[in-house]
Amino acid sequence: SKKLNIGLFGFGVVGQGLYDIIRTKNLNLEIKKIAIKNPGKQRSLPGELFTTDRDEILNNPEINTIVELINDTEAAFEIVSRALASGKNVVSASKKMIATHLHELIALQEKHGTSLLYEGAVCGSIPIIRNLEEYYDNELLHSISGIFNGSSNYILSKGFLENLDYDTALKQAQDLGFAETDPTMDVGGYDAKFKLVIAAAHAYGVIVDPAEVLNIGIQNLSAKDLQYAREKQLKIKLVPVAKELDARNVAMFVLPKFVNETEFLYNVEYEYNGVTVQAAFADQQFFFGKGAGGHPTGSAVLSDIAALRYDYGYEYKKAKEIKDLQFTNNIELNI
Ligand code: HSE
Repeated sequence: SKKLNIGLFGFGVVGQGLYDIIRTKNLNLEIKKIAIKNPGKQRSLPGELFTTDRDEILNNPEINTIVELINDTEAAFEIVSRALASGKNVVSASKKMIATHLHELIALQEKHGTSLLYEGAVCGSIPIIRNLEEYYDNELLHSISGIFNGSSNYILSKGFLENLDYDTALKQAQDLGFAETDPTMDVGGYDAKFKLVIAAAHAYGVIVDPAEVLNIGIQNLSAKDLQYAREKQLKIKLVPVAKELDARNVAMFVLPKFVNETEFLYNVEYEYNGVTVQAAFADQQFFFGKGAGGHPTGSAVLSDIAALRYDYGYEYKKAKEIKDLQFTNNIELNI
C-alpha cells in the first residue's frame, strides 16, 4: 500500500476521535497538518501541527489525502472541491455538504480522477454506504429505513426510559458531543434527511435535492403523544424512509413514527443508530451500531482512509450510474 500524507481539516469531536485512533495504530499514514479555526484554544498536541491557513495544506504537494471534518458547510464544500480538483483524494463526514452538492462532487471526481469517500457521514460507525455500494443489486432494494440521528434518539430514549425532560436531554446530547452546532439539524430531522439522501443515492442511484424531501422532527411531539405510545406499548422513533414505490419511483421522507416491539428499531436506544434494509432476495436485514461520537465516527473515517491506501484506491460507483428511477414526494399512501 502507498503512504498517505494527510491534511486534516477540523479538530472537533470527530477530528480528535480520529487522531486518537490513528495514534494507537501502526498504519502507513501520517497526519501532516491540522487546519483549525481558533488558534487560541488549548490543545494537547504540538503547536506546529496546527495551522489556520487552508492553503498551507491544499497547496502542499506532499499532502496527498485530505480529511475534512469541519462544521461550516460552504467552507467544507470549497475545501473538498479544491482538493479533488488538485488531484488529492478526500474523506469527509460533512453530511449536509455532501447531500446538497452530490452532483457537483461526482462531476469533480470524474473530471479529475480523484475519490471522495464518506462512510462517516451516514450513521457513524455503521458501514452502510459500503454495504449499499457492494452488496446489493440496485433492482432488489425495496426500502431503507432506520434511526439515522443519534441526538434525537438520545433525547427520545431519555424521555421514554428515564422520564428526562426534552431540554435537559438535549443539553446532555450536546455535552456528549453528539449534537450538531445547530441542534435544529438533529431534532428537526434535517441531519437524518441528509443521511437518507446520501444513502438513497448509493442504493438507488437517485440524487435528490434535500429541500424536496419532507422532514418532520421530534421537537413538536407532545406529552400526549408520548403517553399514548406508552399506553399502547409503543415507542416513538424518528424514522427516515426511502422506498421503491414501483419500477419508476422512489419516495423519501423523515417522520416520527410509532414502532412496536417486533420491529428492530424498537430496541435502538440513546446514540445508537439502526438501518433496516428490505431486499427482494436477502429479505430483511438490520445493521446496528453507534451513530454519533468521536470514536465511532472516527472509526468510519479511518475505514475510508484505509481504503485509499491501496494502490488501486477505492471509489463509489453506484451514485454515478444513471438509473430509470426518479424521486417522488407523493407519499400519501406510504405513511
Ligand atoms: N448530530 C449527529 C447525530 C452526529 O446526532 O447523529 C452524527 O452524524
